[in-house]
Amino acid sequence: MSSNRIHPEKSPHILVLGMGGTIAGLASAPENPLEYAAGQVGVESLVEHIESAIPKSVKLVSQQLANINSRNLSESLLSLLGETVSAALEDPAVLGIVVTHGTDTIEETGIFLQLTCGQHANQLGKRVILTGAMLPSNAIGTDGPSNLLDAIKWAATPLDNCPGGIYAVIDGRACMAMDLAKRHATALNAPLQASPSSSAGLINPSWLSGVKAVQAAWTEDLPIPKEGEWPWVEILTSHAGARPETVSLWAESPVKGLVLAGSGMGGFHDAWQAPLALAVGKGIALVRTTRTGAGVTYPDIPEKDPLGCLAAGSLTAPRARIALQLALNAEKQAKIMGKPLTWQDFFARIAVLPVIG
Ligand code: SIN
Repeated sequence: MSSNRIHPEKSPHILVLGMGGTIAGLASAPENPLEYAAGQVGVESLVEHIESAIPKSVKLVSQQLANINSRNLSESLLSLLGETVSAALEDPAVLGIVVTHGTDTIEETGIFLQLTCGQHANQLGKRVILTGAMLPSNAIGTDGPSNLLDAIKWAATPLDNCPGGIYAVIDGRACMAMDLAKRHATALNAPLQASPSSSAGLINPSWLSGVKAVQAAWTEDLPIPKEGEWPWVEILTSHAGARPETVSLWAESPVKGLVLAGSGMGGFHDAWQAPLALAVGKGIALVRTTRTGAGVTYPDIPEKDPLGCLAAGSLTAPRARIALQLALNAEKQAKIMGKPLTWQDFFARIAVLPVIG
């Protein structure tokens, strides 16, 4: 599917991949922006709407991968997105890629693309830009068109020293996609970026050195799990009155990994100690992070970690979950190739990625 400027796919272009979200949403009435359905408008229409503001020299090709509310994002859709981005990066005609996405789970997709395509994009010098919106496409003052326009410009424009990689551009700011997360239910600036740069192309030098540090540390992408091959990983949140059954029920299940969203520095309720030992004994992978939504979880702080459990560094629980799934899948692929690497080897490379800012 292409936008109404018909471009042969073999000529240089920016590929715009549609996943859905509020940016493609429709409100029941323009003055009622909270009553809407996400994922209603095709990406081709979103592109057509802003095309007159794009320099004629920039060719756009759109492709609809899904049109969903991102709370329904599935692992098979992540596989499809990852494989599409990976193939498009290889295509010499694709100069850059924009992904329109719901903001609810853009956090998961950001870390997924960084860990599976980040090194590849960097090596090829191409930018992949995630964007979305907080207001549906027909709402008064909708933010979608300006976000899409900014994202396309970021994908298409040579920017001072800004390397290829996986970014997000939203609300006039740019960041690495792995640093974007929604941290407010309704505010227009809800998708918060850690240490953003201006999306107007004025790149903050300290942000840029942070980007380069992440890219220097991320030297090998992880394999994209095939549809149906994603390991089952759940997030358990520790809270006042936490019960041992919350863990022991999972320990008896076929789950492959648990992400523990602990309180404060990532500590969890004492009631979980014994059932967690049971879970480890059953071969379930454990990762520990903080439910606070910010800051670093360090190994063996506030207490010694259960045997084999890894601290998630700066990864939030949703990001740690994707990272653990990719690490478990990488362990499985390594075994098939006769390499004695464990999920901990892969996860440890992710947990130490530098924090920008
Ligand atoms: C969604 O995530 O699909 C709905 C919410 C949004 O895009 O802001």
